[in-house]
Amino acid sequence: MKNNDLAIVILAAGKGTRLKSSLAKVLHPAGGRSLIEQVLRSCAPLKARRTIVVVGHQAEKVTAVVEPLGAQAVPQQPQRGTGHAMMVARRALGNAKLAIVLAGDAPLIRTETLQALLAAHRSANAAATVLTAVLADPSGYGRIVRKSGDHVAAIVEESQLTDAQREINEINSAIYCFSPQKLWPALARVKPNNKHRELYLTDAVGVLASQGETVVAQIAGDAREVLGCNTRADLSAVDRIFREAKRDALMNAGVTIQLPETVLVDPDVTAGEDTVIEAGVQLLGATKIGARCTIRAGSVLADAVLGDDVVIEAHSLVAQSRIDADVVIGPFARLRGGTHLKSGSRIGNFVEVKNSTVGEGTKAMHLTYLGDARIGNKTNIGAGTITCNYDGFHKHPTTIGSGVFIGSDSALVAPVRLGDGAYVGAGSTITENVPAGALGIARGRQANKAGWAAKKRRELAASEKVGGSKKKSKARRR
Ligand code: UD1
Ligand code: CA
Repeated sequence: MKNNDLAIVILAAGKGTRLKSSLAKVLHPAGGRSLIEQVLRSCAPLKARRTIVVVGHQAEKVTAVVEPLGAQAVPQQPQRGTGHAMMVARRALGNAKLAIVLAGDAPLIRTETLQALLAAHRSANAAATVLTAVLADPSGYGRIVRKSGDHVAAIVEESQLTDAQREINEINSAIYCFSPQKLWPALARVKPNNKHRELYLTDAVGVLASQGETVVAQIAGDAREVLGCNTRADLSAVDRIFREAKRDALMNAGVTIQLPETVLVDPDVTAGEDTVIEAGVQLLGATKIGARCTIRAGSVLADAVLGDDVVIEAHSLVAQSRIDADVVIGPFARLRGGTHLKSGSRIGNFVEVKNSTVGEGTKAMHLTYLGDARIGNKTNIGAGTITCNYDGFHKHPTTIGSGVFIGSDSALVAPVRLGDGAYVGAGSTITENVPAGALGIARGRQANKAGWAAKKRRELAASEKVGGSKKKSKARRR
């Protein structure tokens, strides 16, 4: 059920000059999502009839992000301030009785806080309710000048503060609830009386208060929630808060995280009980980890789906791969897109796997490349085995049955098939299919020449006596 009286307006047209970036501010990420997406997600549970995003800088890019999330983009061209941005949004608001206004660059805001803001606005029957926060360092923010009690007299921007006002540490979050029919006439009276010649929404709040309308301040319980991202340092501070919250959520779900401040977890990642995540791990994208897994130090998982009891040894990279239960990977393994490791299989150090299925209990323990391969169960891939899947023009498949034994340092030139139970002799370059149960061996035959080494040494010693120069013997010593 939509809340028909409510509209949400997110101001996101600004460039973010202080970021010094070619990317619009609200598209910068914090906590694994763009700022604007974070704000939209916090608003979604309010079920507003309309959600409007005022866009300006890189309007097309921002629109492409917000429209799929159910918001309507309204262009503000040029950007003449936050008050002007609201005027631009007016038509899109229709006849909403209440409007929650947010800044696209303050992404930590929680749904519960917006609900409390709405409730405070309704119970005070206010014209405007301002979400405020008390900060130890209020610099850079607009300050709240109070009338009496909860009532606000004005919001004064940093650049316009008197010395006395500079001491105020209650700040404007730029998150408000307005009764639009009161806001519009007040906005019409705002003048661009500042050095940027902008129309400030904050001044409309002052106009309402001076007209005797009820303007109340609601202090955010957690001041961190209203932090805005004006600089790169702000972005990193906000990212840190999101990341910490995500790790706490995982720990609350029964996951052990060693040195949590070194572990990066994206918002959609899940992990089962008694999973252990060691220091320096990154869990990215849509990664899903089962119960009782161990992800050892320095490993990076991106869009990886792991069953229960999987061990990822140190410094392994696992991307776009499916790992069934009881698999052990690494250390120093690299799994790329389209890899499926079935239960009990083992991928060891310096093994790369791409677009391949590895059957139950199959092992490739050392120094191997498996690309475009389908491998059955309980097969042993010897050290240094390479599937030669690329001929310079096309990729070709390698099919290896169950119970196969591939000797070390074999090259399997695709397309090629090895039947169930086949053997491949070490050092072979296999260019033809090996039938089930057969031995494929393709290498030069070994010849041992008796006494050859002693003879060779005698020859070398003799040549040294005859023609040996000082230069040569020096070189040998080195
Ligand atoms: C604003 C508030 C300030 C508050 C702070 C909280 C004003 C004048 N000041 O300051 O009181 O303490 O937020 O973070 O409102 N935007 C537009 N169109 C414009 C200008 C801005 O859509 O013409 C958008 C920006 O993209 C941004 C938001 O409005 O998402 C806030 O603008 P910003 O320039 O960051 O304002 P602050 O200086 O941070
Ligand atoms: Ca800001």
